[in-house]
Amino acid sequence: MRLGTPLSASAVKVMLLGSGELGKEVTIELQRLGCEVIAVDRYENAPAHQVAHRAHVIPMTDAAEVRRIVEAERPHIIVPEIEAIATDELERIEAEGLARVIPTAKAARLTMNREGIRRLAAEELNLPTSPYGFASSEAELVRVASEIGFPCFVKPVMSSSGKGQSYVERPDQIPDAWRYALQGGRVEQARVIVEGRIDFDYEITQLTVRSRLASGGTMTGFCAPIGHRQVKGDYVESWQPQQMSIAAQVRAEQIAGLVTEALGGWGVFGVELFVKGDEVWFSEVSPRPHDTGLVTLVTQYQSEFALHARAILGLPVDVTHREPGASAVIYGGVEAKGVAFEGVAEALSIPGADLRLFGKPEAFARRRMGVALARGRDIDEALVRARAAASLVRPVQA
Ligand SMILES: Nc1ncnc2c1ncn2[C@@H]1O[C@H](COP(=O)(O)OP(=O)(O)OP(=O)(O)O)[C@@H](O)[C@H]1O
Ligand SMILES: [Mg+2]
Repeated sequence: MRLGTPLSASAVKVMLLGSGELGKEVTIELQRLGCEVIAVDRYENAPAHQVAHRAHVIPMTDAAEVRRIVEAERPHIIVPEIEAIATDELERIEAEGLARVIPTAKAARLTMNREGIRRLAAEELNLPTSPYGFASSEAELVRVASEIGFPCFVKPVMSSSGKGQSYVERPDQIPDAWRYALQGGRVEQARVIVEGRIDFDYEITQLTVRSRLASGGTMTGFCAPIGHRQVKGDYVESWQPQQMSIAAQVRAEQIAGLVTEALGGWGVFGVELFVKGDEVWFSEVSPRPHDTGLVTLVTQYQSEFALHARAILGLPVDVTHREPGASAVIYGGVEAKGVAFEGVAEALSIPGADLRLFGKPEAFARRRMGVALARGRDIDEALVRARAAASLVRPVQA
C-alpha cells in the first residue's frame, strides 16, 4: 500500500471504530505517516475525534449505521478500537472487499465474545486455560459452578473492563453473580462464562505484532512482557519489562504466537496471560493495542500505537525495548463535565515522568481520564515515580 496525501485522491484512509485514548494515540501515529483518519464513536468529542481529520457519532453496534458510515467515507482500512461493534457487518464488508478490517473481521467477531475466543484457544489450539463452562440461566450457572468448583469467576460473555464480573467463593453468592452479570453484559443476552481461579504469581500482557515481511508473508514480533495490577477487572498500573523465568517467557511467546496466528491479519495484539513459576495460562486477547501497553509510550522505541499504525499499513516494525518504565492510571474522582486538572506541573517535575490527559468531555469517579508514565533505572523506581505523578494530578470541577 502506497502512502499518500490526506484529503486528496492519493490518501490512505483509515477509519477507527471506537475513538478512546488508545485510538487517539493510534490516530496520532497514523497522522505522522500522512494517513487520512476518520474517527467514529458513540459519543461526541471522544479522545480520537479531537485529533482525526473527521469525526462521526453513531451507535457502532448498529449494523446499518456501520454500513452507512463505511459507504459514505469509503476507508481503505477499518480499525476496530473497542469490542462492542456490529462485527457481523464487518465480516460482510470484508467479504465484499469494501475495506480491510484490522486484523481480520473474524478476529473482531471471535474476541468480542468470551465464548468464541475461549473455545478457539482451549478446544482448537489446545492452549492451557482456566477450567471453564458456560451458562444461560441461573439454574445452569448453579450446576456449572459446582462442576468447576469454588472460588470461580462469573463473567458475561460479552463485556469488558470487569463489567458484570463477580468473584464467587460460595454457592450462596450465585444468585447475586447471575443478577450482576445480566446488568453488566453488553447485549440482552443472558450468557456467562464460569472460570475456575488460576492461582498465579503474576499476570502479563504479551504484546504481539504481526507485520508484513518485505519479502511477502507475515512475521510475528514479541514485545518485552508487561506486568500489571488489576482492581475489579480494570488495570491500575503496569510496568515493562516484567521479570520472568526464561522458560515462562518462551512459553508465553509460544502461546501468543499460536493464538495470534489463528486470528490472522496484521497489527498489534494484547495477549493476557497468567504465570506461576514456569507455567503459563492463556486468559484472553485483544486484537488491538492494550490499555496496559500505554507504558510502551516511554519504554520502547516504537510504542504499541506506532507498532499498530505501521503494521496495519504493511510497514516494517521494531519491537525493541529501550528502558524500564511504568504507567499509573489517573481516575476522574469527580462526576463533572469539562474538568480542569490540578497538580500537572508538580507531577511533571518528578524526574522521568510524563503524562497523557485524554481530553474526555465528561469525568466519572472511576473513569480513566489520563495516565502518568515514568522511566526509571529499574521497575521499582519507575513505578514509584508513576504512582507519585498520578496521585498529584487531580481532576476538579472547572
Ligand atoms: N480465571 C481467573 N483466575 C484468576 N484471575 C482471574 C481470572 N479471570 C479473571 N481474573 C482477574 O480479573 C482480571 C480481569 O479479567 P478479564 O481480563 O477476563 O476481564 P475483562 O473484563 O476482559 O477485563 P479487561 O477488559 O480489563 O481486560 C484479570 O486480569 C485477572 O486479574
Ligand atoms: Mg482482561
